Amino acid sequence: DDPRVHDIKTRIRVIPNFPKPGIMFQDITTLLLDAKAFKDTIDLFVDRIEARGFIFGPPIALAIGAKFVPLRKPKKLPGEVISEEYVLEYGRDCLEMHVGAIEPGERALIVDDLVATGGTLCAAMNLLERAGAEVVECACLIELPDLKGRDRLKGKPLYILVEAH
Ligand code: PRP
Ligand code: MG
Repeated sequence: DDPRVHDIKTRIRVIPNFPKPGIMFQDITTLLLDAKAFKDTIDLFVDRIEARGFIFGPPIALAIGAKFVPLRKPKKLPGEVISEEYVLEYGRDCLEMHVGAIEPGERALIVDDLVATGGTLCAAMNLLERAGAEVVECACLIELPDLKGRDRLKGKPLYILVEAH
């Protein structure tokens, strides 16, 4: 395996019982504190150009010459939005996307930091498909494989760099 992946994993801090008892929170902010590991993370995503959260999406889009469309929690986006509710590991939530951000037929790569239950990726996929995009792949830094989030992705490929500690 790529030694960079091992190094990235060691820089992800696990905080037990956040934000609720029983949750092992995968804190990626400690990864971002290490400039090399942060760069390696982006390089590893970008190297996979053929397919290949807010934090990782924009630099990847920039590096591959793609546009970036934010999918955000409710009431963050100022324009007209479409919304998609979903069930999260801890509670319910909703994602919103600006109307007009996607042209029908555009190819989309969904990037997030982590896949747990897959609810977030599934909601993102639904938003993009409602806007007429073709979702090519989901790419996440971390997977919590026990939660089987990848089973909710309607057969779309899921690329991940590391499994959670
Ligand atoms: C976390 C994480 C993923 C999502 C994964 O986001 O950043 O987006 O959970 O969980 P799932 O696979 O069960 O949907 P969260 O909604 O906690 O908020 P944040 O990204 O705004 O911090
Ligand atoms: Mg998130």
